[in-house]
Amino acid sequence: MIAPMVSAEELRKRVDALPRQNFAILPTGLQSVPRLAALAGVRELLVKRDDLTGLALGGNKSRLMEFILGEAVAEGCDVIVAGGGGEQSNHAVQCVAAANRVGVDAVIVLQSRPGARSNGNALLHEVLGGHTVWIDSDPQMQDRTSAGAHMHLEAERLRAQGRRPYILESSLHALSVVAYVDATLELYGQVAEAQTTPTRIYVTSEGAALGGFLLGSRLMDLPWEVIGLDWRPTQSGTSARLLSAISAAASALGVSNPVAEADIIIHPTGGPAYGVGSAQSWEALLAAARLEGLILDPVYTAKGFAGMLEDLRERPPEPEQRIVFVHTGGVGAVFAYEAELRRHVIKSASK
Ligand SMILES: Cc1ncc(COP(=O)(O)O)c(C=O)c1O
Repeated sequence: MIAPMVSAEELRKRVDALPRQNFAILPTGLQSVPRLAALAGVRELLVKRDDLTGLALGGNKSRLMEFILGEAVAEGCDVIVAGGGGEQSNHAVQCVAAANRVGVDAVIVLQSRPGARSNGNALLHEVLGGHTVWIDSDPQMQDRTSAGAHMHLEAERLRAQGRRPYILESSLHALSVVAYVDATLELYGQVAEAQTTPTRIYVTSEGAALGGFLLGSRLMDLPWEVIGLDWRPTQSGTSARLLSAISAAASALGVSNPVAEADIIIHPTGGPAYGVGSAQSWEALLAAARLEGLILDPVYTAKGFAGMLEDLRERPPEPEQRIVFVHTGGVGAVFAYEAELRRHVIKSASK
């Protein structure tokens, strides 16, 4: 183990030593959005375009899948068993797309919910294929254990057929956090090249992306604050779960974990419920589209963006400061929210 405070070169070597499949278009862009910066009241707002990773409709999970499938393929697995979310799951879509890309099968466990939307990611998922196993619903997406238990049953069934399954119980996994340590290195290189230093990184995450930015930033002692933005009402135990994934990621990289639970900042913006927009999130979605042509999604990034605006109002930065918002994707879900978009967004804008 080496002590905390690792050079970027050393961290790059450690990340690159792990097995990986390359299918995302990286680095993702870092784009200045001056009209949204004016709205946010900051000198410069930069959007890290992780929505444009190039796999299916892109998003944060493409990065994760490079390392997860890297390990799966290195272990000789021929089918990935994953999922856990609902019919609009971006994770499920990305798992199947990544598996297709690498040439392994995908079995996806999903929770069926009353009133499920068949458009958007659900449609995309069907187009991409894979085998879906439906289990009973959990509206707030809290009980991952029952989805995990079903994944193990599926894996048993597959093993009995002579298959070699790789089980990904949750997207919160050591290698997912590593993927966002890799993203931190990428962002660090981009801001160094642009000779600019952001002071806050905002990301719609209470999981891997937040964990990776925190771990990478602390290991390299980068001069910015990392703030997670909730996409559902705050759950108990979130920080403890995240910390344990961060520790596992640090072990995978062979470094000590410099992140403490107190370092995990998550701004609560996920109300009123998972997948249900708030007045602020619809407004944020509209502002990004109308000011910059930037499409946020109703489930995750519009809530995150609204939370960032709120945090900037509550804790205004110094006038010279630059801010980064990481756009984690989710665009496929937009098309499943046609009714709400018409009701809340398009109508209110044309008043
Ligand atoms: C588009 C998008 N943004 C953000 C998140 C939240 O990510 P995390 O699991 O890191 O909290 C997800 C998770 O599914 C997502 O699909």
